[in-house]
Amino acid sequence: MNAVVEIKIDQPKTSGAQAFLRGRDKKMLIGGEWRDAVSGQRIDSRDPATGKVIGTVPRGAKADVDLAVKAAREAFDKGVWRDKTPDERGRILWKIAELIEANIEELSELETLDQGKPLFVGRWAEIPGAIGQFRYFAGQASKIHGETIPTSINYQPPGKKIFAYTVKEPIGVVGAITPWNSPLVLEAMKIAPCLAAGCSMILKPAEDTSLTAIRLGELIMEAGVPPGVFNVVTGLGPEAGQALSEHHDVDKIAFTGSTATGRKILQAAGGNLKKVALELGGKSPSIILADAEMDIAIPGAANAVFFNTGQVCVAGTRLYVEKKVFDKVVAGVADIAKGMKLGHGLDPATQIGPIVNKMQADKIKGYIDGGRAAGAEIVCGGAQGGPAGTFITPTVVAKTDHKMKIVQEEIFGPVVVAMPIDSLDDVPRLANDTHYGLAASVWTQDLSKATRYASAIKAGTVWVNCHLMFDASLPIGGYKESGWSRDSGTQAVDNYLETKTVCMVV
Ligand code: NAI
Ligand code: MG
Repeated sequence: MNAVVEIKIDQPKTSGAQAFLRGRDKKMLIGGEWRDAVSGQRIDSRDPATGKVIGTVPRGAKADVDLAVKAAREAFDKGVWRDKTPDERGRILWKIAELIEANIEELSELETLDQGKPLFVGRWAEIPGAIGQFRYFAGQASKIHGETIPTSINYQPPGKKIFAYTVKEPIGVVGAITPWNSPLVLEAMKIAPCLAAGCSMILKPAEDTSLTAIRLGELIMEAGVPPGVFNVVTGLGPEAGQALSEHHDVDKIAFTGSTATGRKILQAAGGNLKKVALELGGKSPSIILADAEMDIAIPGAANAVFFNTGQVCVAGTRLYVEKKVFDKVVAGVADIAKGMKLGHGLDPATQIGPIVNKMQADKIKGYIDGGRAAGAEIVCGGAQGGPAGTFITPTVVAKTDHKMKIVQEEIFGPVVVAMPIDSLDDVPRLANDTHYGLAASVWTQDLSKATRYASAIKAGTVWVNCHLMFDASLPIGGYKESGWSRDSGTQAVDNYLETKTVCMVV
């Protein structure tokens, strides 16, 4: 291991995080009230670095989903939110952003304790990203409108005209189901456009990381979102998540998570044919050409896979390097990996935190061991440890075959497979040899190559000389089995809208 993982600190510093953890029972937000699960059952929330229970949250299930959907439907039908002026909805969304910002130190600590991530990741990337979503979609609330449309309809009663237009209407009651890797920003990517559109919603956060979703619920209420418009049901995926996906009075599910769960949600949604948006897994390539600026490309490729301990849907997990610089790049990335400091996320020196839970860590270790058994070379890392067995040392793998599981499947941990590019003609084929199509990066000074590959790679995002550049204004989502539709950007609001056509003879 890079070093034995010593836990020197596992307590939050801010009074806000201390008060939230110790001061009050964590409940679900339903119809503006804080409630326990109907069953009375609860789920443990653990600090993945130590394995210690840091709190419990209600184990919501079907009965609770029913109550939340009823509250959301009532709020929608009464028009308490969608009938507000767009300006008013925008002001409240902006207020949510301000409240998150005012509590950013507390929220970062809570996220680190519950999820494991190094504090700087939450404090400087994830939570600012969540704030950015609310600010951006605050502005979008007033820019939702249809069009007037000239028609070519033949029928024209004498003396009359045809006048046609479209109206954008909120889709209704939305269920948002979100993962544990970057909880607050991925929740915000659903909540902000959904509320901007005027919908009511139920958030089902991941069972491993529900604490900040509850805290976010408090802030959303404080900002002035009316009761019933925003609800939080905590609970397990196969219980609360499944019930929400099946519910006949839910109009849309917006999901981020694994491709396997995305498929289950699609099946569950079939009953009432509710709409489904899916932001799923990836196996994204980082492609380094020989003319790249190596002092940017090497740390860039390392960051692309090790940031947030590799638990990023768009992580650069397949590293393709032009043959003549392959050894140099792999050695450079491995040197960075070997120098990374593992520890508790609350320790300011930590660069690599624990994996979210032991099961995920075991799964990652299984991929590494499977790769080794299949003949791959573990250039560095590959070890599992720490007090709860949740730490994985940053791992660089070489000498792989493209068919190996370690090259094809989403590992969701700090593991990169490095492969040489023999001929530049192979780049599109190699990059696209996967079921996924979420993202890619190309590192080169050659504008013509960058542009050609950006066009040839089948992925929702292609970065050039960078990776993991996110903004609320930039659409993100997948080709192929990486998903349907896009989060972020102006069109994300369309996920939560129906188009109504009005055609009149006047
Ligand atoms: P998951 O996709 O099962 O979990 C995401 C969310 O879906 C959670 O809120 C969970 O409670 C919910 N869920 C689970 N089963 C459900 C069901 N049957 N119906 C409705 N909702 C359900 O992810 P999981 O199992 O925690 O992680 C497994 C793998 O998924 C990871 O190893 C990683 O490869 C991938 N993953 C990918 C993410 C991405 O953004 N691309 C995010 C999280 C996980
Ligand atoms: Mg936890």
